[in-house]
Amino acid sequence: MKGIILAGGAGSRMYPISQLYSKQLTLIYDKPLIYYPVSILMLGGIKDILIISNEETIPFYKKLFGDGSGLGLKIEYALQSAPNGIAESFILGADFIGKDGATLILGDNIFYGKLDFFLKALERTRGATVFGYRVTDPERYGIVEFDVSGKAISIEEKPSKPKSDYAVPGLYVYDNSVVEISKNLKPSPRGELEITDVNMEYLKRGELNVEIISRGVAWLDTGTPESLLQASNFFGAIEDRQGLKVACLEEIALHMDFIGMKEFENVISDMPKCAYREYLQKIFTDRNK
Ligand code: G1P
Repeated sequence: MKGIILAGGAGSRMYPISQLYSKQLTLIYDKPLIYYPVSILMLGGIKDILIISNEETIPFYKKLFGDGSGLGLKIEYALQSAPNGIAESFILGADFIGKDGATLILGDNIFYGKLDFFLKALERTRGATVFGYRVTDPERYGIVEFDVSGKAISIEEKPSKPKSDYAVPGLYVYDNSVVEISKNLKPSPRGELEITDVNMEYLKRGELNVEIISRGVAWLDTGTPESLLQASNFFGAIEDRQGLKVACLEEIALHMDFIGMKEFENVISDMPKCAYREYLQKIFTDRNK
């Protein structure tokens, strides 16, 4: 399974910072927003990751992650020269995907909690899995409609009259057909290759699984300054209470055995003196006891 993170976008709602780079670099409490979606792919055991972004932002991602080897990952980069839609990811990433399946996560989507829903989806070898998450503002998202038996029967992109309160979060698990399906899409009225159209095609083929994400899991929105602040407060509260970091990529790399203690030590030694380093140092010391 390959992983793709789409982390560009016009980001006009984040003006003035959007003049410099896309919002996935902004800080959510103590680390850049993009760390959170990277952590989800890593916790799914995905090591081959393609980050797709715009010309201004790619150099910053390269500075943060390089080729990913410090985290035991293989990270590549691809340019999306204009916001042509989420589904363009699979056209830009076709060579990277090769004959594998592809999991896409949007660079501004944050999940927190037990990831069973995601791990279960990764076990499927055929078709697609998308998720349903109850929200209070369904007109802002892709919305999935269910029949009385709970079977998904439609998905609509940002409907003015939503048929349910279940939004489809920006985390999608596909088999290899996603490449061919995306290549055959026509742009929507807003000129984008819509991810919802990819999902509708899987639904038509009878190959779309929709898993409801239970209420114990947080899916946070980070589209506006208010929601970024909410996310920062949320993770600040959890991290300060427990003394454990969320989406600390070096810790996850060690936990997932993507790197060993020697590599972990090397990564720490490259960091400046700071709370983040102290946190990792403590993990290193505790493991050596
Ligand atoms: C996109 C998708 C939408 C999905 C949402 C999740 O919306 O088009 O179907 O529900 O991501 O974050 P956008 O971020 O473009 O508003």
